[in-house]
Amino acid sequence: MHVAIIMDGNGRWATQRGLPRTAGHIEGAKAVRAVVETAARANVDTLTLYAFSSANWSRPTAEISALMRLFGQYLFTETRRCVEQSIRLNVIGRRDRLSENLLRSIEQSEKSSAAGSGMLLRLAVDYSSQHSILRAAQRAGRDADLSADAYQRLLNEVDHCAYSVSAVDLLIRTGNERRLSDFLLWESAFAELHFSDCLWPDFNEQRFQCALDDYGGRQRRFGGLSAKTL
Ligand code: FPP
Repeated sequence: MHVAIIMDGNGRWATQRGLPRTAGHIEGAKAVRAVVETAARANVDTLTLYAFSSANWSRPTAEISALMRLFGQYLFTETRRCVEQSIRLNVIGRRDRLSENLLRSIEQSEKSSAAGSGMLLRLAVDYSSQHSILRAAQRAGRDADLSADAYQRLLNEVDHCAYSVSAVDLLIRTGNERRLSDFLLWESAFAELHFSDCLWPDFNEQRFQCALDDYGGRQRRFGGLSAKTL
């Protein structure tokens, strides 16, 4: 099962408490740790987290720097825990605008966790689905016979996705917003959507389980008919 999460609401969580927005991101990083462990225990195969969209570059420089620092710290502290739990790490998205330091941390984390046999944890950083789709289409050129699988491989190349990954089964968005915000548009073609009012730092094991239960109750038909109707 592939679960993808748009982690929204850090800023509001902080503002409600009279704290700077970056405090919300710090608290959000703690929620990431908890959800990764819950997902691994729940036998999720792939967990993709939207950590920084390409559109987020328009935020104030101080907030961007704080987020980039947090990603570096997360990789530094969490890689060992991931290795212990056999979790493989992969950062997807553009790499041409990330700092040398962050790039080094990403490469080290990916390399040291690559032998894991458990869940694949993908962090989407400087990610834009539209950008990936455009770049993959450019690579495809005029190949009229290109299959969806072959196109997915091109997308993976563009996104630095090191593993073959199944389509998204469940897409969760926190923060009481109901939009996809340029996240995994191709991969979520048949995904079930779960929107939670909860702000990301408050997202915990129980709320994750609630999303999984909601998904468990859905009938997935992929455009066909349910067994009952046939
Ligand atoms: C959107 O909420 C969240 C982000 C742009 C950043 C997501 C980052 C984290 C969850 C923490 C760090 C992540 C990792 C992987 C270590 P927002 O700030 O736009 O919230 P708002 O809509 O309330 O303003």
